[in-house]
Amino acid sequence: MSRKPVIAGNWKMHNLQQAAIDLTNGIMQELKSEDKNALPEVIIAPTFTSLYAANKALRDCGCGKVRLAAQNCYFEEKGAFTGECSVQMLKDTGCEYIIIGHSERREYFGETDEMVNKKAKSILAEGLVPIICCGESLAQREAGVTDYHIASQITKALRDLSASDVAKSIIAYEPIWAIGTGKTCDSTEANRVIAMIRNVVKGLYDANTADSIRILYGGSVKPNTIKEQMAQSDIDGALVGGASLTADSFAQIVKGAM
Ligand code: 13P
Repeated sequence: MSRKPVIAGNWKMHNLQQAAIDLTNGIMQELKSEDKNALPEVIIAPTFTSLYAANKALRDCGCGKVRLAAQNCYFEEKGAFTGECSVQMLKDTGCEYIIIGHSERREYFGETDEMVNKKAKSILAEGLVPIICCGESLAQREAGVTDYHIASQITKALRDLSASDVAKSIIAYEPIWAIGTGKTCDSTEANRVIAMIRNVVKGLYDANTADSIRILYGGSVKPNTIKEQMAQSDIDGALVGGASLTADSFAQIVKGAM
């Protein structure tokens, strides 16, 4: 089965509205001469306050080559949840994808596997696509519990989801020690873990579901690493942090996945 590659830029807590508009326009300019059908699914994830501005820039361009994601959501529909944004609110702002369970959210904001599972359900119920993050710390890797930890995160994140919902979801494997450190995980090792994740999905569901779900690698992805990563059997794309903050480097990564 051929899976469409995905290149997603996680802008994290960067870019005021004008900077978000400029970066969005810059990316579209860089991709202007590329055939839309040959491009991977290209996604940008600005911070909440820049979603509206980025969405407007995308709509004004109308090229349909770049899609919008949020970096987080809350799983309840509405109510007295000060400071939170529901999936419906993010959909209303143009988001088609939502990143959940990022290691920074787990570490600094107490996001648990149970919350990730509830968020995944709310996202899918609204017809959006969850980008479910998982990954081990350096201590876990050194203790030899990487596979056990990742399998547990994925099993809990997918609890009670239907096979058809899982098939259209996206998983991002992001080893924590590779995030923002410049230490990219060796691509054969990233591929091994990603194939292991696919096997977990196969065990929970079936071969078709495992063949359909896109699984990305994230952690210090750069223009000069993407080709080798994309050449691996099970890596379907990248979740990019730092290198997604300039149009030139992000576009190079997108083109490296073509
Ligand atoms: P870097 O690409 O900056 O390592 O960040 C990866 C990441 O956390 C994407 O979600």
